[in-house]
Amino acid sequence: MTRQLLKGKKGIIFGALDDQSIAWKVAERCKDAGAQITLTNAPVALRMGKIQELGARLNAEIIPADATNLEELEQLFQKSMQVLDGKIDFVLHSIGMSVNVRKQKPYTDLNYDWMQKSLDISAISFHKVMQTAWKLDALSNQASVLALTYIAAQRVFPDYSEMAEAKALLESFARSFGYHLGSQKKIRVNTISQSPTRTTAGAGIKGFDTFFDYADKMSPLGNADALSCADFCTVMFSDLSRMITMQNLYHDGGFSSMGMNPSLLNES
Ligand SMILES: NC(=O)c1ccc[n+]([C@@H]2O[C@H](COP(=O)([O-])OP(=O)(O)OC[C@H]3O[C@@H](n4cnc5c(N)ncnc54)[C@H](O)[C@@H]3O)[C@@H](O)[C@H]2O)c1
Repeated sequence: MTRQLLKGKKGIIFGALDDQSIAWKVAERCKDAGAQITLTNAPVALRMGKIQELGARLNAEIIPADATNLEELEQLFQKSMQVLDGKIDFVLHSIGMSVNVRKQKPYTDLNYDWMQKSLDISAISFHKVMQTAWKLDALSNQASVLALTYIAAQRVFPDYSEMAEAKALLESFARSFGYHLGSQKKIRVNTISQSPTRTTAGAGIKGFDTFFDYADKMSPLGNADALSCADFCTVMFSDLSRMITMQNLYHDGGFSSMGMNPSLLNES
């Protein structure tokens, strides 16, 4: 990246599991753009994933935190501010998991204990992250916060199951915190609604390949990949996007504005 868009900025990146993860690419791009970062993931993911390799290469401290655990989140922010030597200028929430999807429960027969867990991990964790940052006054003036979401929050994609409701809740939390943090310290909070992307979380959705191909053909620009998502996140963390807040931003090659693409009809 030629412009050091994030020079001098300090960020926390949640959710890099392996080199397919969207957060992995965002971490690389942010570093390229001149930022200093800490990386975090759930303790179990640290054992199973490859985040250590990323941390070593980017010279980024890895701080374990289950994003549903308030104590661990508090330690994460405290430690990040210590390691990065100051308040946090940007945060990426790139976390999602549905127990019912994982266990292939049909939408009309969901297990509600599992649903609670899915909502906690995929949506309420965002509120917990923001509330922790608020209480510790950990974010700098004009900081930028992003969470990743999917268009199933607005439209029905049956196999996305309870994750649709999780994403709707996540987007709503982002808007509400956008008000509170914007009024308090001009901090921006947005969600990015990303195209289907081949990652561990993506592959967990039934029929993902069909889903992926359909969106790719429907979108005039094709599906947005993880790298282009990382570029967009970099811009959103930079001062160039300083007046954008409380938005759900579609990063999907135009998919969200399409009704039908004749090239799909011509296939049958
Ligand atoms: N892949 C897609 O098609 C797609 C499309 C739109 C949006 N998204 C969203 O992008 C985000 C990143 O997903 P991804 O596709 O890069 O997959 P991924 O599997 O690489 O990332 C999901 C991450 O969530 C982490 N996580 C799970 N439980 C956690 C917990 N309790 N505490 C902390 N972290 C936890 C996992 O360890 C993993 O790193 C998710 O919010 C996902 O819903 C993905």
